[in-house]
Amino acid sequence: MKKSLFSKLVITFATIITLSFVITAAFLSYWFEGYYFEQRKTQLLNECEYIGVTAVKYLNGSLSYQRMEELLQSMGSYLYTDIWLADNYGIVYAVSSKGNSELIGKQILSEELRELRIGKSVEKRDGYSSVFKGPVHTYMVPILYKDVFRGSIIMHTSIGEIKEPLERFYEIIWASASLAIIISVIVIYYFSQKIIIKPLGKINHVADKISKGEVDKRVYVNSQDEIGDLANSFNLMAESLEKIEDNRRQFISNVSHEIRSPLTSIKGFIGGILDGVIPRENEKYYLSLAYDETQRLTRLVNDLLDLSAIEAGQLKLRIEEVNINEIIRITVIKYEQAIKNKKINVDVCLQYDDLYVIGDKDRLIQIVTNLIDNAIKYTNEGGSIEVMTRVKGDKVYVSVFNSGEKIKDEDLKQIWTRFYKADKARSSKISTGLGLSIVRSILTQLGEDVWVENKDNGVMFIFSLKKI
Ligand SMILES: Nc1ncnc2c1ncn2[C@@H]1O[C@H](COP(=O)(O)OP(=O)(O)O)[C@@H](O)[C@H]1O
Ligand SMILES: [Mg+2]
Repeated sequence: MKKSLFSKLVITFATIITLSFVITAAFLSYWFEGYYFEQRKTQLLNECEYIGVTAVKYLNGSLSYQRMEELLQSMGSYLYTDIWLADNYGIVYAVSSKGNSELIGKQILSEELRELRIGKSVEKRDGYSSVFKGPVHTYMVPILYKDVFRGSIIMHTSIGEIKEPLERFYEIIWASASLAIIISVIVIYYFSQKIIIKPLGKINHVADKISKGEVDKRVYVNSQDEIGDLANSFNLMAESLEKIEDNRRQFISNVSHEIRSPLTSIKGFIGGILDGVIPRENEKYYLSLAYDETQRLTRLVNDLLDLSAIEAGQLKLRIEEVNINEIIRITVIKYEQAIKNKKINVDVCLQYDDLYVIGDKDRLIQIVTNLIDNAIKYTNEGGSIEVMTRVKGDKVYVSVFNSGEKIKDEDLKQIWTRFYKADKARSSKISTGLGLSIVRSILTQLGEDVWVENKDNGVMFIFSLKKI
């Protein structure tokens, strides 16, 4: 069975309160019992002196038996005690209550006499069960007259009598414990509802909504405690969920868009050939166009796979010693044709012939290719490109500069996000907007940095690598 937070709190608090009351009551009653018995004893012993004097007077013949009996009776009822008087042989000769008069003339003390004779009092917890119904507490006090043992006073107080005030005491303790439990349950109910249960209910409700796809829902709890923190963290989580959801939608729409245009062209070209709209002699040309489009698709899919592998942390880098200068030279040569076509002036300025860095060769080629590809793509006809390597401390900085338009301020941050193209109209045919995000992802995984700077007459991309 699922227990509510409230019932758990109530059970815990009630247990704590009950336990503390039980412990307090046990200590108090232990102390109180001892104290009470002590008080009682002092009271009885105080009266003993007077009873002793009376008994001696009677024994000496200066007080009548009747007078002494009356005195004993009033003393007994005043002290709630049965008082017997015994002579120096332990034989009873007077009792305070008429009910016990059959004891008169009987010897009731034997071994206690030894103690009493030498002037010591005797205390007994339970005895005389034949005379009294319940348990009694008995004090025996010797009567000494001019240092001679003349008999003893025996006083019995029923334990029930003594315990009665204790019982009252227990009642009060239990009544206050129950009252405390009731009050604390009310207080706990009020506070747990206000502080914990209601806010948790709200969070729960919103979590339920979010799990059903309403990612724009938020929790409104403004308490300055852990629950408030929880609500804030929850909202942050909801926010990032919403962002992820937005990204996912955006991503799907971007990918579909990127795939649709080459597919449309391919379909158009092949369709034209199949139904004879394209003349036979041009078929080859259109097929080559379709081939270019499939290449574009392949590149797009490869880029996407790379990106998703990098982002999922599945891309394992093969770390080795790589000659970055060699990579730059090979890449520039690879683009020879494109450079000639656009009449670009390329300047390669490398420090040392060979410059070894730590990295993954294929990925470094990918980075340099992307940057040089961009430089060629975004420089103006007859523009210039400058590739440089510089060693500074244990770092190697590679920069790729191209003359041309600067990147607008509002685009500077965005160009690293996937599918982002600053000039949508111009670059739609030849770009995917994935290159720079791949560059950045790989370098991040290598623990390195990449950034862009606008120069007077162009743009410079710079990235760092670890020198060996
Ligand atoms: N050398 C550059 N000069 C000017 N703009 C650039 C340069 N390199 C990148 N950009 C801008 O950054 C955007 C993103 O680049 P990238 O991720 O490589 O995608 P793509 O090259 O496919 O457009 C480009 O669309 C372009 O607007
Ligand atoms: Mg690019």
